[in-house]
Amino acid sequence: MANISLLLFFFFILINSIPISSFSCPLHHKQALLTIKSNFDTIFNQSDYYYTFKSWSRNSDCCSWLRVNCSETGTITKLYLYDIVPSYDNPASVSFDIFTPLFHIQSLEHLDISKNRLVGEIPGDGFGNLTQLVHLDLSRNNFNGSIPYQIFGLTNLRYLDMNDNSFEGNLGPELGKLQNLESLDLNNNSLTGNIPEEIGNLKNLVYVFFSNNFFSGRIPDSIGNLKDLERLAFSNNSFSGGIPDSIGNMKDLEVLDFSMNSFSMKIPTSIGRLPNINTLLLNHNQLTGPIPSSIQNLSRLELLWLQDNHLTGEIPTSIFNITTLRSFSIGGKGSKLIWNNKAKIVPKRSLLSLYMPSCGMSGQIPEWISSNKELLYLDLSGNKLEGPFPNWLAEMVELDTVILSDNKLTGSIPHRLFESTLLHALHLSRNNFSGELPENIGNATGMTYLMLSANNFSGQIPMSMSNMDRLELLDLSINKFSGHDFPDLSNATSLIYLDVSNNEFSGKIPATFSTTIEFLYLGGNEFSGHLPWNLTKLVSLQHLDVHDNNITGYFQDVLPQSPYLRVLVLRNNSFEGFIPTTISNFSNLQILDLSGNNLSGSIPLEVANLTSMIEAPVHMSTSGSIVDFFFDYGPPNDMHFDIEDLIVNWKNNFQGLSSHSLDMYSLLDLSNNKISGEIPASLGNLKSLKVLNISNNNISGHIPLSFGNLKGMESLDLSHNKISGSIPKSLEKLDGLGILDVSNNKLTGKIPMGGHMSTMNGHKYFANNSGLCGMQINITCPEDIPPPSEGRDDEDDENLSWIFWVGTWIGFPIGFFSSILIMGYFLNFLLLFKLCGKGGAAGGGQGEEEGARKRSFDARYIVAYDCCERHHRKMYVGETEIANEIMGLIVSGYGSNHESSTSAIPRLWAELRVGSGPGNGNASLWACGLGHRSGLVVPGRVQSMWTVRVAAD
Ligand SMILES: *[C@@H]1O[C@H](CO)[C@@H](O)[C@H](O)[C@H]1NC(C)=O
Ligand SMILES: *[C@@H]1O[C@H](CO)[C@@H](O)[C@H](O)[C@H]1NC(C)=O
Ligand SMILES: *[C@@H]1O[C@H](CO)[C@@H](O)[C@H](O)[C@H]1NC(C)=O
Ligand SMILES: *[C@@H]1O[C@H](CO)[C@@H](O)[C@H](O)[C@H]1NC(C)=O
Ligand SMILES: *[C@@H]1O[C@H](CO)[C@@H](O)[C@H](O)[C@H]1NC(C)=O
Repeated sequence: MANISLLLFFFFILINSIPISSFSCPLHHKQALLTIKSNFDTIFNQSDYYYTFKSWSRNSDCCSWLRVNCSETGTITKLYLYDIVPSYDNPASVSFDIFTPLFHIQSLEHLDISKNRLVGEIPGDGFGNLTQLVHLDLSRNNFNGSIPYQIFGLTNLRYLDMNDNSFEGNLGPELGKLQNLESLDLNNNSLTGNIPEEIGNLKNLVYVFFSNNFFSGRIPDSIGNLKDLERLAFSNNSFSGGIPDSIGNMKDLEVLDFSMNSFSMKIPTSIGRLPNINTLLLNHNQLTGPIPSSIQNLSRLELLWLQDNHLTGEIPTSIFNITTLRSFSIGGKGSKLIWNNKAKIVPKRSLLSLYMPSCGMSGQIPEWISSNKELLYLDLSGNKLEGPFPNWLAEMVELDTVILSDNKLTGSIPHRLFESTLLHALHLSRNNFSGELPENIGNATGMTYLMLSANNFSGQIPMSMSNMDRLELLDLSINKFSGHDFPDLSNATSLIYLDVSNNEFSGKIPATFSTTIEFLYLGGNEFSGHLPWNLTKLVSLQHLDVHDNNITGYFQDVLPQSPYLRVLVLRNNSFEGFIPTTISNFSNLQILDLSGNNLSGSIPLEVANLTSMIEAPVHMSTSGSIVDFFFDYGPPNDMHFDIEDLIVNWKNNFQGLSSHSLDMYSLLDLSNNKISGEIPASLGNLKSLKVLNISNNNISGHIPLSFGNLKGMESLDLSHNKISGSIPKSLEKLDGLGILDVSNNKLTGKIPMGGHMSTMNGHKYFANNSGLCGMQINITCPEDIPPPSEGRDDEDDENLSWIFWVGTWIGFPIGFFSSILIMGYFLNFLLLFKLCGKGGAAGGGQGEEEGARKRSFDARYIVAYDCCERHHRKMYVGETEIANEIMGLIVSGYGSNHESSTSAIPRLWAELRVGSGPGNGNASLWACGLGHRSGLVVPGRVQSMWTVRVAAD
């Protein structure tokens, strides 16, 4: 009895201490939640979240509300407020403020406000209040700013998820205070700096995710203290240095993802001591040395990706003895690994994916692959494989992706291959396949990416292809396909990219495509007739290239109607008519090439309104949709498809502009027509135009003074017209001008010699006029005394340097974008080194070493400064078997002027002539013009090894 009354006594004490009643949450908790609810009511349409807040009523116990949990004592401990901001309502984003009242609920242990499109910084003060928090989920919002220090004071936290936001800044040593943390997810943010040593204090960590940030530096050895760690993902950062040996201490580790960083040195053999590891991803780094044989001890390994490193030695076939292995990738760009072509491999279990690009495989496609009955993905690209496409491979019915590009395979494709509707991607480009495509090709209705470029295929395209209604990308370019009839692809309602250029197609231009098509390349065939009306109706078109066909008709009648048009190339056809004023509607047009037709009339004033030639577009990458195609299906993601370079006359030279960086180019080529009239002065508006070619027309009148405003101009060709008057002095302002051709006109007077004009000293560019004079052509103008000689320094001639770039070459130059540079500098992928300079250029050999020592930098931009000791330095960019892409080459500095390249950059200019991609031999580059203001940017990417040679001119 006494016991019961005692109990009752305490009971009363208890309920009296709670403001409302024993079953209800504290009033101020309820008030806080009701304020949140009313915040929602003021911003959103209630019907969108009616269900969520229906139970949140003033008259009920808030512990009974949806998404609210209370402790036994009736205080709120858990709030599940994820995915509560309506996603289809305005405003597009919401500040955290709507949730501020929850900071009054200091008893909170579990708070989930993920997936709410919240923006702005998170309030540190408020979170500092929530000291009881054990579980905090802020993921999938758009928070930015740094992670407030108060978060690191929440020492009870066991689970912290900030995945998928825009958090910035560094992680400090205070990270080490979260000693109870078991799961830390910082994936997909913009965090920078090193991982603090103190991470080793978080001994309870089981999951650590730092992927897709900008972290850099070495991984501290202390990471080996995390003995309970099961998953460690640091992918896609800029980590460097060696992989710590202490990794071998993590006996529970199941997933280790260090892919896509700059890790170097050898793979530690201690990795073979991770008995539980099932996923080991080290691909896309700069790891060297042999693959440790200890890897074969990993008896639970399922995914092993080592592709795109600098590994050497033989690929241990013992790896195939790992009975759990399901996905293996090795080799890749720049691989120096050796594959034993005689190896007898008997996989213990079927692989699902096998990626062995550039592994030096030779002979026929090895038959042991056929024992992988469940194989889905096969990539053997870039090897030296020869012989036919094996029947056994065509009969592997599970196949999803087959990539055999860049080999020496021959024969025709077995029809059997196309009986599978599971085949999703077939990439056979750059082999020696021949024959006709099998009639049943259209039975492969699952085909999404079909790439057969640069083979010897011939014959008609089977009409059955119109059944391939899932096609997104079809590349049949550079073959010998012929015929009048083209399959109707209008049922392929996801088709984005079609390239049939450089074949022998004839007849009418095909136009039966879905309106989704964005890239259409039909050039270099024998198409004739008019440009079909249906073609102009393809409203998504971005690129239309029909160069070198026999197309007739009036240009003004066949203007495509796509507002997205960026590239229109009609070069070398038989178009007549004139350029209509409506041309100015194409606000995205950057490349307009109408050369080699029969256009007449004059250049309409409205050309000057082409927005993208006035201001360069801001987005840096183009055609992302194409480039990313392959990223969808996963593993070693280097299988992306490179769009063919767009061939145009870029500064007196037909060459390819990389589609990856098309934003950097802007060209207007009206040459070789019958255009007459005067040059509209308004053309001076086109400030970002880099190449203007109106040569070989009947243009008369003067060169407009306004051309001095063409700030981006690098090549101006006005030759072979009837232009009279003098060359305006305003052209002296064009710092980037590399080529000025005014030959074969009726120009008179003095060639301006200020600024950059003094370097325009090619006689031929001024030839056949009616009385030009000036120092550039060594004709003294009557009004002048002879200008002082430029004082050539003969002893330097021997030292004229060429730079040889050894690296697969993708991308071409085009002046300069300071934004890239500045961005690059801060993101740490800009590599500054003194390539030439006074000493470096002294001898070829020395320069070569200089470059060679720089191997294995991960720099996407290279800045070589102090390269130019004198006028007109010729540089060569070579190609190599080492596949790298150079994203930027910036050459600056001049002579004794040691100004840093960044300060020199705004005045950089240069010109580059390159072949179109790998295999096309050297690319020469003219850099370094006058004074200290030379430079260029070459888009592309340096991922791994490259060498630079500086040789004597
Ligand atoms: C923290 O809690 C206290 C006490 O409830 C409150 O007065 C203060 O406003 C809270 N701080 C913030 C930033 O919400
Ligand atoms: C793979 O295992 C087999 C036995 O299952 C063995 O005979 C062979 O030598 C092993 N291969 C390697 C390279 O270790
Ligand atoms: C496509 O497949 C069907 C049924 O599998 C078959 O009857 C037909 O002959 C095939 N088409 C071609 C062109 O081989
Ligand atoms: C497109 O699909 C429809 C419906 O399946 C079909 O009737 C038509 O024949 C197809 N067109 C072509 C060109 O294959
Ligand atoms: C043009 O498109 C229409 C439907 O939009 C279609 O009926 C016609 O067959 C097409 N013509 C050609 C030549 O493709």
